[in-house]
Amino acid sequence: MKKWYAVIGDPISQSMSPKMHDEWIENNSLHATYIPVHVKEENLADAVASLKNLGCSGWNVTVPHKTAIIQYLDEIDPFAKQMNAVNTVEVLPNGSLHGSNTDGQGFVRSLEELYGARCKGGEVLVIGAGGAARGISYALHEAGYGPITLTNRTLEKAQQLCTEIPNAKAVAIAEAENLLSAYNLIIQTTSVGMNFARKGMPLNPEKIAKGTVVADIIYNPLKTEFLSEAEKRGALLLNGTGMFVHQGALAFEKWTGIRPNTEEMTRKITETLGGTYVNR
Ligand code: ATR
Repeated sequence: MKKWYAVIGDPISQSMSPKMHDEWIENNSLHATYIPVHVKEENLADAVASLKNLGCSGWNVTVPHKTAIIQYLDEIDPFAKQMNAVNTVEVLPNGSLHGSNTDGQGFVRSLEELYGARCKGGEVLVIGAGGAARGISYALHEAGYGPITLTNRTLEKAQQLCTEIPNAKAVAIAEAENLLSAYNLIIQTTSVGMNFARKGMPLNPEKIAKGTVVADIIYNPLKTEFLSEAEKRGALLLNGTGMFVHQGALAFEKWTGIRPNTEEMTRKITETLGGTYVNR
């Protein structure tokens, strides 16, 4: 029987996940499909029951359901537990629902796809202290990166997040700005510079040193103002397209056991977003 997978969220029509997964399904000659499902917050419990009853084999979870979904799952992996957020659900052969979180690991894989181990052993700066910062910092730590410094508009939130990441410390934005040349890897995880705003940066990039890898998890626009300014100072860039593709690839692998082509997909999504932009 044809298998089906889904992504649930609100809103959902903008999601590029269906196109990405359908292409991987086709490339790997699988008898399956992947559909977007619009689920409002108040309907989440019913939606989970329906997905299960209608034979969905697995689904992705996006905003605003990543934390709320946990109460409806039978088990979640340690990383998702630490994040208190799930973005991937597998329906196990016995029917139980298993949640995991591939966002942070997706970032690490996208970084390594482009830059290998270049950033290992150096200082890392993470800008932001929300869910994305938590996932990325934790995954970087687990993958052997660090020491990690966190900075955020609201310093208390960075200080709080620090307590969850071994050896991490928090500094105020002004202090981070002064120390920018000390980092091998700088990751921008806030929403500043996204979509309609397009302009604006979370901190002054003046002191970014040549050769620093500067990442922004935003992929629309493909090159945020922060990345443009970093480029002017000789930084090596990474935008959010790769993280998006790799979080999806990790989910695809959990469901099908197949590791899909991520480089080709990153190129295609970049084109879809109107870019001939290359990261380096
Ligand atoms: P996500 O899950 O995408 O990380 P989030 O948990 O809402 O989203 O976190 C948003 C992050 O972007 C926070 O670090 C937030 O800073 P505050 O903790 O000070 O709110 C940051 N952010 C959002 N808008 C910002 C802005 N205009 N300037 C600076 N930081 C901003």
